[in-house]
Amino acid sequence: MAEKFSFQLMATDGKARRGVIRTPRGEIRTPAFMPVGTAATVKAMMPESVAATGADILLGNTYHLMLRPTAERVDRLGGLHKFMNWSKPILTDSGGFQVMSLSDLRKLTEEGVTFKSHVDGSRHFLSPERSMEIQRLLGSDIVMCFDECPALPADEKRVAQSMRLSMRWAQRSRDAFGDRPGHALFGIMQGGVTPELREESAKALVEIGFDGYAVGGLAVGEGQEAMFGVLDYAPDFLPQDKPRYLMGVGKPDDIVGAVKRGIDMMDCVLPSRSGRTGQAWTRHGMVNIKNARHQDDPRPLDEDCTCPACRNYSRAYLHHVFRAKEMICGMLLTWHNLHYYQELMQGMRDAIEAGRFAAWEAEFHAQRAQGDI
Ligand code: GUN
Ligand code: ZN
Repeated sequence: MAEKFSFQLMATDGKARRGVIRTPRGEIRTPAFMPVGTAATVKAMMPESVAATGADILLGNTYHLMLRPTAERVDRLGGLHKFMNWSKPILTDSGGFQVMSLSDLRKLTEEGVTFKSHVDGSRHFLSPERSMEIQRLLGSDIVMCFDECPALPADEKRVAQSMRLSMRWAQRSRDAFGDRPGHALFGIMQGGVTPELREESAKALVEIGFDGYAVGGLAVGEGQEAMFGVLDYAPDFLPQDKPRYLMGVGKPDDIVGAVKRGIDMMDCVLPSRSGRTGQAWTRHGMVNIKNARHQDDPRPLDEDCTCPACRNYSRAYLHHVFRAKEMICGMLLTWHNLHYYQELMQGMRDAIEAGRFAAWEAEFHAQRAQGDI
């Protein structure tokens, strides 16, 4: 019999939670950060390098993979894990959110979304049923419901209508997913920045019943203060005994604030994308390696970091390969950023276990305030 999917809460400190998600492909230590591997690759990284940074799980995207190379082709080639040489768990987003931000000529109906590919202009259709089929063909371990998410600010009536559509789609996603031991289906809460709508959404999802619950519709232009405002109450609407995933977040201080408010999982393109544009995240803040003040600097990005970029290369070298547009620049900075993000998560996991999250958080902010990096 296939091993089951489960979540165990090991410790709490205030609202912060330390836990473990068990899947047939391995354990996910929470709070967890998931690097983004949109097109079956974490850009500029070999999968074994991603694993070496400490990642337990990657995120993949229905939208990109259905367009290229197609879910049917990935299935014929043995599934996404084999295709991209990543044997640990994969969570896939459902496509709706990416259709809204990336595709052309979208047409939204109760049934689903028709759109034109941003790759070649071809016409496609996504619905809860088709999204579940694609995520099954990919072999995703954690499947996300098909939802819709308005950009904020949006008027409350539009947010309410969109949320209720997403809740009907959540039921259809649940029905289409069926019973697949070892694979999980997560619901996605919507409702913008309105507490009543967030509560209505959470109740609808809990009534349907999911293996985990995502907080969607944030980091879409509302700003950190408004996002933390929602996170101050929204996780309390969700079951204690299931994982909670904040989608598309964020900068290091967003992540720390989300964990403090009871979030267990997050994903963001930021560490990988900003690595390719010359930005490095360190415990002291963000370093812009293109800045001319690094050109004679023999020091590493971060004296205390044990990643290959910091152990073996100077800021002067990183500055040079950035200026020369050499590929190793994106490789080294991405590795450093993913390593930093995973160390941040490990630091929080240790602090929660030891019951010293507040002290850890104070130290996190104090180090960043030191400036000049
Ligand atoms: N990624 C970031 N936010 C969202 C959201 O609200 N829904 C989905 N499906 N993906 C997201
Ligand atoms: Zn480093």
